[in-house]
Amino acid sequence: MVDAFGHSEKMANLFDRLSDTYDEVGVDFFKPIATKLLDAMSPVEGERWLDIGCGRGAVLLPVAQLIGSHGLALGIDISAGMIEHARRLALHAGLRNVECEVDDAQSPTTVQGQFDTISSSLVLFFLADPLHALRNWFPLLKPSGRIGVTTFGTIDPRWAYVDEVFQPHLPTHMRDVRIPDNEGPFASDAKLEEMFFTAGFENILTVRTSVPVHFANTQHWYDFTWSIAQRMLWLAIPEHARAEVRREAEARLAQFAQSDGSITFDQEIRLTLGTKPEDLKK
Ligand SMILES: C[S@@+](CC[C@H](N)C(=O)[O-])C[C@H]1O[C@@H](n2cnc3c(N)ncnc32)[C@H](O)[C@@H]1O
Repeated sequence: MVDAFGHSEKMANLFDRLSDTYDEVGVDFFKPIATKLLDAMSPVEGERWLDIGCGRGAVLLPVAQLIGSHGLALGIDISAGMIEHARRLALHAGLRNVECEVDDAQSPTTVQGQFDTISSSLVLFFLADPLHALRNWFPLLKPSGRIGVTTFGTIDPRWAYVDEVFQPHLPTHMRDVRIPDNEGPFASDAKLEEMFFTAGFENILTVRTSVPVHFANTQHWYDFTWSIAQRMLWLAIPEHARAEVRREAEARLAQFAQSDGSITFDQEIRLTLGTKPEDLKK
């Protein structure tokens, strides 16, 4: 039995710690991925939109712009730090149709009513039981409502080669969510779609796309790794070994650097889209 509560607590801790620097180190990553999702989902003016695991609002804030003042953009996240930033940024942008709550995506308890659309970008693979979570999201969607999530696709082999240096130092159960494992629901598009189907959704479709990820230099890469969930991997490495891991990773990065020292990798993204059946009795 998975300890969903203990797992969510660990995630809350991790993301609270990195919420101040998350998406703030000058690497375009979360916003371009959110744009891909929103391009595929085309928000409609006036709709009620729920963004699960909203973070600092990479999806939530543009959605609020697009649905306009008659719509509602509700974001939930397990990390109070992330929610604080999302609220502040919404206020700063003058978006009055945004609400944010601390809540567990595994089984949300604060969400009231049903929504036209549910989105969740780069969250599902952090949950202790993703199928159970999807089952809990299903009643939050109106009949015919749309769902769209992003997960990571195939990792750029150059990036994998750099990240390999972490592996010997990590506990066996710990894995990088950017590297889909060979088993479980994220192993293939078919498995991912099957999970959505089992949770009750239909018209499920996965689209693969990619975004370029640019680092000005190796220091930039290093700062980025501490500002995302990869921080967890750094923390798992004994402190005395971290400098050596960094040195080896930066030596590998240098093999892919341009003459100005910058490095650009590709990040493949999977967009999984679906709907809730219009008539559940059918
Ligand atoms: C990679 S970030 C993505 C954030 C945002 N969707 C974006 O695209 O920038 C993952 C987010 O999932 C949240 N998260 C992880 N586990 C969660 C859970 N059990 N319930 C709610 N949010 C969770 C984290 O706090 C974090 O904000």
